[in-house]
Amino acid sequence: MATEGTHHHPGLPDVPIHSVDLSEAEDFFRLHAAENPHAPDAGERFSQALIEFGRRGIFSHTAEELEFGARVAWRNANRCIGRLYWRSLVVRDRRHVRDAEGVAAECVEHLRVATNGGRIRPVLTLFAPDQPGRPAPRLRNSQLVRYAGYLGLESVVGDPSQADFTRWVESLGWTGKGSDFDVLPLAVETPDEGVQLFDLPDDAVLEVELTHPELPWFADLELRWHAVPAISSMPLRIGGITYPTAPFNGWYMGTEIGSRNLVDPDRYAKMPEIGRRLGLDVDNDRSLWKDRVLVEVNRAVLHSFDRAGVKIADHHQESAMFMAFVDKERRAGRVPHAEWSWVVPPMSGSALPVYHQYYDESVELPGFLPGAGWTPPAGEPAGCPHHVSSGA
Ligand code: ARG
Repeated sequence: MATEGTHHHPGLPDVPIHSVDLSEAEDFFRLHAAENPHAPDAGERFSQALIEFGRRGIFSHTAEELEFGARVAWRNANRCIGRLYWRSLVVRDRRHVRDAEGVAAECVEHLRVATNGGRIRPVLTLFAPDQPGRPAPRLRNSQLVRYAGYLGLESVVGDPSQADFTRWVESLGWTGKGSDFDVLPLAVETPDEGVQLFDLPDDAVLEVELTHPELPWFADLELRWHAVPAISSMPLRIGGITYPTAPFNGWYMGTEIGSRNLVDPDRYAKMPEIGRRLGLDVDNDRSLWKDRVLVEVNRAVLHSFDRAGVKIADHHQESAMFMAFVDKERRAGRVPHAEWSWVVPPMSGSALPVYHQYYDESVELPGFLPGAGWTPPAGEPAGCPHHVSSGA
């Protein structure tokens, strides 16, 4: 069981996410020295950190250590199929930015650097860690770009996975247009300013309208998705220190959108409508109508991103690159770790090499810690007026 202030994750010891762990720091300095010829001697670096810790109750990583640590956190991300290019992660050290407006502006800049006119670059922006007596800024969004979800009594508009968050930002004064694809505002919390909301400028959010290579009616569905998946809810643990605010992105793999976001029953749930439009026998599972829907939605996603000049991987390509990663890790004398159920794509699994292997599922640090998932911050009202919770 997780106790307060720790994160429990299978395979990961209860990491005291708000406290500094010196033995983890020492391990990290050793790793840094072992993999980087120009890194300082691990023993000397550790003594220096100990002195600083004695004085301040925390120590500072160098920008170079953070760049390496963030890249290794990606290398260690067991749920990510796209780790072959972990060394290419662009790390933006923004530890000095502490006010809500500054944090929001850096997130906008993150999106611009990552989007790069469609030639998506993997980027991580790192904000300060909590310090004794000085909590760091926090982002309340699960990703930098997400669409609002509105649950009515009988109807659902937008992304249901964002319904709680949407109600919460509405309670803080935000109003969306009420469309299926309203981009949510950034919610930044700092100790001095509380929660502040910032709308993302339109030109920082690249989106792709979905069309199908052969089916003209597909455009009438008016589906779209954003170009950059930028997770903002996973604390980054490097060398004994937790960086709670460290949004990072890669590029999309088509199936994330085509086999999950648009079709999962608790997301946009488009399966039945598209099945009917395709003229399939949607009342008979053995007609394999769902399988055929998935193929066409995924073709539409890849086709549309390609046409718009926005980088996206397909699952065949990404699976082959993952096998190259596994190979490279072994050749570097490391054991590749992965969670099978996450790295196998949600379509045509057995047609992909990644499916035909088991992996060591234990968790290594530096790494991204599981976010708690979105919960309304303590003391904030987030109840739906139609669903009064017990005791209210
Ligand atoms: N699956 C998530 C989404 O659809 C994004 C997770 C990260 N994906 C990535 N390609 N880096 O938004």
